[in-house]
Amino acid sequence: MNNEAIFKFRSISENEAFARLVVASFITPYDPTIGELTDIKTVVSEAVTNAIIHGYDGRDDQWVHMTLTMQNNVLSIEIRDEGLGIADVEEAMQPLFTTKPEMERSGMGFTIMEHFMDAVEVISSQSKGTTIRMSKHLASVQAECH
Ligand SMILES: Nc1ncnc2c1ncn2[C@@H]1O[C@H](COP(=O)(O)OP(=O)(O)O)[C@@H](O)[C@H]1O
Ligand SMILES: [Mg+2]
Repeated sequence: MNNEAIFKFRSISENEAFARLVVASFITPYDPTIGELTDIKTVVSEAVTNAIIHGYDGRDDQWVHMTLTMQNNVLSIEIRDEGLGIADVEEAMQPLFTTKPEMERSGMGFTIMEHFMDAVEVISSQSKGTTIRMSKHLASVQAECH
């Protein structure tokens, strides 16, 4: 059983919880393990928080885009903002790197995404925005489902 869903929501921090629930609902029919569910909700939180806090620098009237795809046992998640962009993606993805230490950010968002997902791709250009693409093979999805 393949599926796709596309959302856009305002850049307010409350929508982090919304996005977590949406992704959890999206994968529920595929019988994820508790571990998979927790990991996937966590990476969505990290990416959506980044879009709001860093991409839009706290502006609450912008759009965050989220596309969820399930195809051949692989969950793909795309989170996109049209915000400030990242000057140096390689540097930004280093563990503990943060440009907002004053907000007590941990600098571990990208590291968490890379740890919990099979693949993480970051496409960013300054003042145009950032797209995060992540994918994960769900062990729980039966091979005969298509
Ligand atoms: N969507 C985004 N738009 C602009 N900058 C971003 C975005 N996501 C991440 N960054 C940059 O990458 C850095 C590292 O992100 P992350 O690992 O999540 O750590 P943290 O959010 O704790 O700073 C951020 O401090 C920020 O500079
Ligand atoms: Mg972060």
